[in-house]
This record gives sequence, C-alpha cells and structure tokens, in this order.
Amino acid sequence: MPRIHFRLNGVETDIDADPDSSLLAALRGPLGMTGPHFGCGSGECGACKVIVGDHAVTACDTPLWSVRDKNVTTLEGLGSAEMPHPLQRAFIAEQALQCGYCVSGILMSAAALLMQNAHPSGADVKAALDRNLCRCGSHNRMVRAVLRAAVEMAAP
Ligand code: FES
Ligand code: FES
Repeated sequence: MPRIHFRLNGVETDIDADPDSSLLAALRGPLGMTGPHFGCGSGECGACKVIVGDHAVTACDTPLWSVRDKNVTTLEGLGSAEMPHPLQRAFIAEQALQCGYCVSGILMSAAALLMQNAHPSGADVKAALDRNLCRCGSHNRMVRAVLRAAVEMAAP
C-alpha cells in the first residue's frame, strides 16, 4: 500500500492507504478524527468538510492522493473545549445549533471564509455556507454567529 504524507492539524502524518480512497475514510478510520461527519457521502451535504490549505473541501469525495504534502485541518484542529475557536464561542453565544450534526462542516466552511476574508458581509457568509445543509433550520443564527466571530477576530 503506498504511503501518503500530509500535515494533519499541524502534525506530520503518514498513512498507508489506497491513494484513491477518500480523505474522510482515512480521517475517521485509522487517523481517529471524528470531527468530520459522514452524511451523504457524495459531496452534497457538507457535513464532512475539512480545510485543505485555506479552502474548505468535502472530505468524502476528496481522494487521499490529492492532499499529499498539504495542510489538512479538521474540527479537532480548530479549537478544543478548553480553548475554543472564536467561531465555536460565537456558535454557543448565538445558540446556532440544534442537533449539531451539520455544525462541524459549517464551522470549517466558516473558518476557511475567515482565513480568506476577515471582514465578511452577511452575503459573504451565506455564500460560504451555501453548500452546507442544515436540516434543523438554524441558518440565520449561524450567519449571525459567523459575523460575531469575525468581529471578535478582527478586534485589535
Ligand atoms: S458526507 Fe461529504 S458532502 Fe455529505
Ligand atoms: S443543527 Fe441539525 S442539521 Fe444542522
């Protein structure tokens, strides 16, 4: 089995796996990252999103070979219970989740947006979250939470 190397949440990582298998399978399986969720499995729902470089991608249809030597960030690399990311604090403050199944992917899409645009408009946030499905209808609170985090992160 070929060895694939990449940086996972800042840690140099090697995995022996089929290069054509999905990034999500590697993350949730041998690499033990359960932050990215399995939803549709076909790039439609966004529950599995991770950040590669500074772009949010759907890990379920991203082949492992395509992240060779790249930086991959999952929810586990965003923040922790002890040191939450501003987005995570803002989602709690705005009560921007219900079942929470979609939220890992939403946070990663939002984090990638804020890496590229520190001062997003509401329209920018909606566009960034457009490919993330939430069946609980928390969308408006999520947009408010992302804008709240952006303000906090841009504060001097
Ligand atoms: S599980 Fe990857 S987009 Fe739905
Ligand atoms: S909070 Fe339940 S699917 Fe989004």
